Amino acid sequence: MSKKVYLTDVTGRDGFQMEKEWIETEEKISILNQIIQAGVTRIEATSFVSPKAIPQLKDAKEVISSLNRKGIELVTLVPNLKGTELAIEADVDEINFVVSISETHNNKNVNQSVGDSLEQIKIIHQLAIDHHKRLNISLGTTFGCPFEGIYQVDKVLKVMGRLDSIGVDRITLADTTGMANPKQIILFVKTLKAAYPNTHFSLHLHNTRGMGLTNLYAGYQAGIRHFDAAIGGIGGCPFAPGATGNVCLEDVAHMLSFMGIPIDPDVRKLTEAAKNLETLLGYQLPGQVMKAGLASDTTAVWNH
Ligand code: COA
Ligand code: ZN
Repeated sequence: MSKKVYLTDVTGRDGFQMEKEWIETEEKISILNQIIQAGVTRIEATSFVSPKAIPQLKDAKEVISSLNRKGIELVTLVPNLKGTELAIEADVDEINFVVSISETHNNKNVNQSVGDSLEQIKIIHQLAIDHHKRLNISLGTTFGCPFEGIYQVDKVLKVMGRLDSIGVDRITLADTTGMANPKQIILFVKTLKAAYPNTHFSLHLHNTRGMGLTNLYAGYQAGIRHFDAAIGGIGGCPFAPGATGNVCLEDVAHMLSFMGIPIDPDVRKLTEAAKNLETLLGYQLPGQVMKAGLASDTTAVWNH
């Protein structure tokens, strides 16, 4: 199996959705273009959701139309059929439909039952085929939910069975509020990959309880090569209590490249973008390499 890791930047979607203060559209575009210039080749730039649910992302169409899309795959999150139609209209490369494993969280997040979301996926799957768009399904609260507790993998297998019968073959396992632990990640990933060997799995992790990087490496050891992350470590779901930031993109990139695992983006350029984001947002971001500098800038040497 190849060592290389593919990183999707979710600053524009998961990151900005958690920011209460309005960020000007041009500022969003500027940050996202800096991330693209740093060498990130896959970016979830925004979401097509109700502007009442997430006012910060009401400029989704404008953000997408001004992005420097050359050489990148552009993804947007959608919660329903309407969002899917808007994403197709905006000519995104991939539609990322979100449904939670948790019934409670799905209701709070997208105002419908898990069963109703799965019914919508049938229609959306066909729509994606008709318009030659890739469809990914993000399973929110895969590992546990702040309302319902920690899950066993059987609960996820049940939903996977439904998705597989629809024909879905791209899945993101999302730890929405950082409840997973590394052993659980390895068990879930191995079990799901064994049950669905033809499905493409990726991981979306939050560092809410300090387990983000460890969980990411556990996922890597279990065979995952595609991960989401946000610069500065910003983000979180506004409809989950206690939610905090994604695993920090430049910290992830720094760890992987320091270990000799190939990645596309340049850590130093990502760090510069994170510093610019910190200035823009006006508060200290959780990212660590942006404060400490790269280990390779010290006398650190590691022969992989
Ligand atoms: N994009 C833009 N507008 C949308 C929309 C979409 N995808 N889906 C619905 N709307 C609009 C409707 O047109 C309607 O507008 P109106 O009041 O001006 O007529 C309004 O939103 C309500 O529509 P309705 O279908 O009744 O939705 P709802 O109120 O039951 O909310 C969702 C359901 C899914 C639209 C909403 O909960 C949502 O957007 N959730 C996203 C949550 C999220 O992004 N969480 C973080 C990421 S995991
Ligand atoms: Zn998230």
